[in-house]
Amino acid sequence: MTVSARLLAGAALLSVCATTTSAFSEEVNVYSYRQPFLLEPLTSAFTEKTGIKVNVVFAKKGLGERIKAEGANSPADVIMTVDIGRLDGARALGVTQSVTSDVISANVPAAYRDSEGHWFGLTTRARITYVSKDRVTDTALTYEELADPKWNGKICIRSGQHPYNISLIASMIAHKGEAAAKEWLEGFKSNLARKPSGNDRAQVKGIYSGECDVAIGNTYYMGKMQTNDKDPEQKDWADSVRIVFPNSEDRGSHVNISGMAMAKHAPNRDAAVKFMEYLSSDEAQKIYAEANFEYPVKAGVGASERVKSWGELKADELTLNEIAKLRKRASELVDEVAFDDGPAS
Ligand SMILES: [Fe+2]
Repeated sequence: MTVSARLLAGAALLSVCATTTSAFSEEVNVYSYRQPFLLEPLTSAFTEKTGIKVNVVFAKKGLGERIKAEGANSPADVIMTVDIGRLDGARALGVTQSVTSDVISANVPAAYRDSEGHWFGLTTRARITYVSKDRVTDTALTYEELADPKWNGKICIRSGQHPYNISLIASMIAHKGEAAAKEWLEGFKSNLARKPSGNDRAQVKGIYSGECDVAIGNTYYMGKMQTNDKDPEQKDWADSVRIVFPNSEDRGSHVNISGMAMAKHAPNRDAAVKFMEYLSSDEAQKIYAEANFEYPVKAGVGASERVKSWGELKADELTLNEIAKLRKRASELVDEVAFDDGPAS
């Protein structure tokens, strides 16, 4: 074979490869802790709009460590996850990079993004009280009141060390100071109906079964229970409770975020920025928030009718950067008061 014939054959092979592997000129690789059903509608809408293909790797844990291990050769462009603990944790692990985008800055309020662009919130979820429809008449509650002896033996909550609770406790430190937050946590612990265990929905089940009158949980679980055709008993759990948004008469209810970050060595950075900007758009905000009964972060994009039916959310304006800083101290307080040992017998 002559040199030119060989080159020609090589070129033909390349073009075959190009057409068989992908019809897309641009791609973006997403590493996601969020489930496929949540991302699929977003990724297909984005691809349809831009022609950019989105490849998604799903995992329940270890994505940050994986990106770290992959180092400079990591294919990861965008990390998608829930909770400020995980987003800020990714930054602390050194697997994110800063993004500056006028589009994202205009769409995502400053309280819900890292001041240095290492992570951005996409949806919010409030950590609220579920109260028994039959046994609780209160229509307003505060987090502070969870330590009031009137709730002795009546409150259910998952482990104090769960990231959802750590952020809530961090918000209490930010608002009340450390000493007051610790005292609060002690009073709260003594009001528990049982040793903290199980997930958020298990606490609502505790109300349904009569073990407790008040449960702490995230808002979207109400939607997940109300629409649970796979496990219809959860509809009964949901039906036994009302949501009361804590502190709605003062600073507002504690909110956390689901969000995104640019991976440190993103090989498709430009396409990834376009994807991140799309996720902050009206269209994507609506799709994403509705899929998991959450609140869009972008002002003016309303929550779904179901979410609105739970009452009005007034969100605490404390920045998540502030909460991130206090998470470690919050976790220490949980241990100091032995919160997870439950009420003294
Ligand atoms: Fe959750």
